[in-house]
Amino acid sequence: MTDLDIRQPVIDDLVQIIEIEKNCFPIPWSQEIFLRITITKGRFQVDDDVFIIMKVLARQSYVIGYVIWEESVYEEHGHILNLAIREDERCRGNGSLILNHALNRMRDAGMRTCELEVRESNQEARSLYSRAGMVAVDRVKGYYDVEDAIIYAIEF
Ligand SMILES: CC(C)(COP(=O)(O)OP(=O)(O)OC[C@H]1O[C@@H](n2cnc3c(N)ncnc32)[C@H](O)[C@@H]1OP(=O)(O)O)[C@@H](O)C(=O)NCCC(=O)NCCS
Repeated sequence: MTDLDIRQPVIDDLVQIIEIEKNCFPIPWSQEIFLRITITKGRFQVDDDVFIIMKVLARQSYVIGYVIWEESVYEEHGHILNLAIREDERCRGNGSLILNHALNRMRDAGMRTCELEVRESNQEARSLYSRAGMVAVDRVKGYYDVEDAIIYAIEF
């Protein structure tokens, strides 16, 4: 749809973002983290060369989903930390849209690689990452307590 926008988060998005986060994840990120990223206009500096970047997929003020990633400038390495689409907006290509946006921004910023962790059982997300050209490269036993993480990676 043409009225979709990928933009930095704003304070008025926060209630919706936190609701989506709680609906998507058994251990949601705290409100404080989202607030911090939002008041720094979606670009939070963690260290000299490490930034956390957040983009929101929205139809005007209606938040459809979001993606958060980390860029390590010296290492030229990106890491997707969080990706979520509102339940009633899934299976319409929204996940692909915002994931590809993040990967393109990382590549444009000079990252050479990107990786992420995903629950082994999360087939929706795993197929999304495969379609974006990411490859399962490793497994971390017990990363989510009783469940393993699969590491997906891509080289730009
Ligand atoms: C994973 C997640 C982000 C995917 O979002 P999404 O918007 O459904 O993603 P897409 O629509 O791009 O793709 C999902 C499926 O919809 C299908 N699809 C895409 N566009 C479509 C369309 N226009 N019509 C019908 N189906 C479509 C895709 O083929 C894909 O199906 P597949 O698994 O058979 O390949 C979403 O399920 C989610 O938020 N899950 C909870 C949070 C989560 O697990 N995040 C990832 C943590 S690592």
